[in-house]
Amino acid sequence: MPKLISALLIIISLAACSKPQHPSCPIPQLSETTTMKNSELKPEYQKLLKAAIAVTDKSYAPYSKFHVASAVLLSDGEIITGNNVENASYGLTICAERAAILRANASGKRNIVAIAITALAHDASGKSIPVTEPVAPCGACRQVIFEFSQLANHDIDVIMSNSDGSKVVVKTISELLPMAFGPKDLS
Ligand code: THU
Repeated sequence: MPKLISALLIIISLAACSKPQHPSCPIPQLSETTTMKNSELKPEYQKLLKAAIAVTDKSYAPYSKFHVASAVLLSDGEIITGNNVENASYGLTICAERAAILRANASGKRNIVAIAITALAHDASGKSIPVTEPVAPCGACRQVIFEFSQLANHDIDVIMSNSDGSKVVVKTISELLPMAFGPKDLS
């Protein structure tokens, strides 16, 4: 009898999961999605990711020791990088993606085509520990990336990578932030 009940419960929860918004559905993790090898990326995205990986040492992350680097690809082919900058007042931390986007904006460039993200962790002694799974942008950064996709009138590719660029997930910002609120909602 208990077996019958647990079988019924599994059937009910599977049926509920056919509706993705149902609360019983597990939230998919990035590690469960299809990953790509670096060589499967478009050459311009390989270059973008390489630019991000090259600046992981520019992060100021003395508290989390999680050194994040990002690089945005602009419509004119320019690449601008950014890093996380932490603060003793923890909540003031600026993420790498927003740092890269703000640097692009400061040089008068807003037409972002793609953004790459990677990270390298450090232990207490400062020794680097590679992050083996692709790093996803936080919710606040997704919202900011979405703002720029509506400004540019096109979706933005988000290239999420592990430390050495060998394992990558590519999604559009509209996939990462469905049903988003953006500048068009204010018009
Ligand atoms: N971090 C980013 O730079 N980007 C993200 O999208 C996720 C988190 C940083 C913030 C903080 O300095 C460290 O990673 C740990 O959360």
